[in-house]
Amino acid sequence: MAWHKAASTDALQDGSVIGVEINGLDIALYKLDGAFYATGNICTHQHAYMSDGYVDNGCIECPLHQALFDIRTGAVVDGPTKSPLPVYPTMIEGDAILVELPD
Ligand code: FES
Repeated sequence: MAWHKAASTDALQDGSVIGVEINGLDIALYKLDGAFYATGNICTHQHAYMSDGYVDNGCIECPLHQALFDIRTGAVVDGPTKSPLPVYPTMIEGDAILVELPD
């Protein structure tokens, strides 16, 4: 596991999501209540980017078939998949959001 710079903290407004690619991995970054979270950016149902979806009440809704995942845990809350999103640890260093990813 290693820490990677993913984005600047000012790239995200509270309640928003952006997609980034780090070492070939598609990652979705979120800001919720002032804290930053990271999940896989590809839906576990079919191929859709979670960063094209909608953040609502601590969840991300897939734009394609509306699967709902808990942003903090990746757990499926509703929808056509039973597979959670992978989640990754985050930390802030200066004005950078760092994400810990597998080597
Ligand atoms: S691709 Fe996300 S719910 Fe179908």
